[in-house]
Amino acid sequence: MESFLIKGGVPLRGTVEISGSKNAALPIMAATLLTSEPCVIRRVPDLSDTRFMAQILAALGAEVKFENGTLTSRAKKIGGYADYELVRKMRGSICIMGPLLGRLRQARVSLPGGCIIGARPINLHLKGFAALGAKIQIAGGYIDATAKKLAGATMFLGGRAGSTVLGTANVMMAAALADGVTVIESAACEPEVVDLARFLNAMGAKVSGAGSPTITITGVKKLHGAEHEVIPDRIETATFMIAAAATNGEVTITGAQPDHLRAVIDKLGEAKVSVRRRGDTLVVRRQGRLKSVDVTTLPHSGFPTDVQAQMMALLTLAPGISIITERIFEARFMHVSELARLGADIEIEGPSAIVKGGRPLSGAPVMASDLRASAALVIAGLAAKGTTQVNRIYHLDRGYERMDEKLRKLGARIQRIEEKA
Ligand code: EPZ
Repeated sequence: MESFLIKGGVPLRGTVEISGSKNAALPIMAATLLTSEPCVIRRVPDLSDTRFMAQILAALGAEVKFENGTLTSRAKKIGGYADYELVRKMRGSICIMGPLLGRLRQARVSLPGGCIIGARPINLHLKGFAALGAKIQIAGGYIDATAKKLAGATMFLGGRAGSTVLGTANVMMAAALADGVTVIESAACEPEVVDLARFLNAMGAKVSGAGSPTITITGVKKLHGAEHEVIPDRIETATFMIAAAATNGEVTITGAQPDHLRAVIDKLGEAKVSVRRRGDTLVVRRQGRLKSVDVTTLPHSGFPTDVQAQMMALLTLAPGISIITERIFEARFMHVSELARLGADIEIEGPSAIVKGGRPLSGAPVMASDLRASAALVIAGLAAKGTTQVNRIYHLDRGYERMDEKLRKLGARIQRIEEKA
């Protein structure tokens, strides 16, 4: 297993190019199952998750090639199901269910099971499929969805924490080939949902309202092949913005989509981090001393839960009290005890973490627990005095393309090493 060895205390300087979005690419790759014609998807980040999705498409019978950020997929004849071995490794693979149900009127997928950041049920996905007329059976750890006929329907997909991103994506994909009109209320408004709708419409689907809480899909008989370029990764962008501020450097971020990050840019401004925008470029640096701020995670366009851990790492450096409230996932504070190993002072009170910031961090060995927690530990290690070893970085490789290379280009002293036992 690999680790990162980081010698901290170096202000990051220079330019970094943002990769395509993992969370947009995964459902778009799954959507290629909706047609028997070839699809070409560009700017797909080279990550363990996207390589995994390519394997799943191939396991279902598609001809797949994934090279240099371009995926070509032709699902001429597909069948079978996504087994436990495949799904348990990546929850995101649940989004093959909608395309299989839409195209084949049947889908068999392993239940994803729990996740370290929360229970993550899929009841809303299944509610949506059932509303379209699918019969859902769960047995032996598998979900079987079958439908003689898929008929458009109006449904409310809001849950405990508001809308569901992959739930909205899954139902949108099934409804694209259903008979009649489907209306999803309390739909997720994330940019990744909008990007999927753009790809579906390029394939000949009729999706409107994506990006708003009400999405309307008028089913069509057949979809054709299409080409698409995936949007920039807004979470990777936010991660580099925060790394620049945490190390008191100045970084130019190119190939970004600032409109997707308004809540993050606004919150960083409050914390005395200046973000100058020019087209798809952001220039980020501190504006004097960091200031403590309160953050609450919400569905888009609120502050993204996938940036909560990185923001916490930054706020450990801001003098004063910052209160971070996690409203989306009930157990997304795994990074707190690891940040404490670097000298941070954080207390958890129910859904909130109370950060007493301003004390300098010092390097130590820490353990990554999930994708965004690992990014927070890298940021804290870059800001800390001395050496930090971040173990189990396979979590990071799931969602960040060549992170260590990109950081080294910005002057970071970071190495990828074999984990010492
Ligand atoms: C997507 O997960 C992202 N993953 C997550 O990013 C992200 O954190 C999340 O959206 C929220 O923004 C991908 O796109 C691959 P949800 P998803 O369904 O769709 C509850 C990362 O770091 N819920 O929007 O699985 C659920 O438990 C990952 O890149 C139900 O109750 O998240 C959660 O509390 C982590 N029933 C909330 O809704 C359901 O049927 C939001 O989950 C579905 C969800």
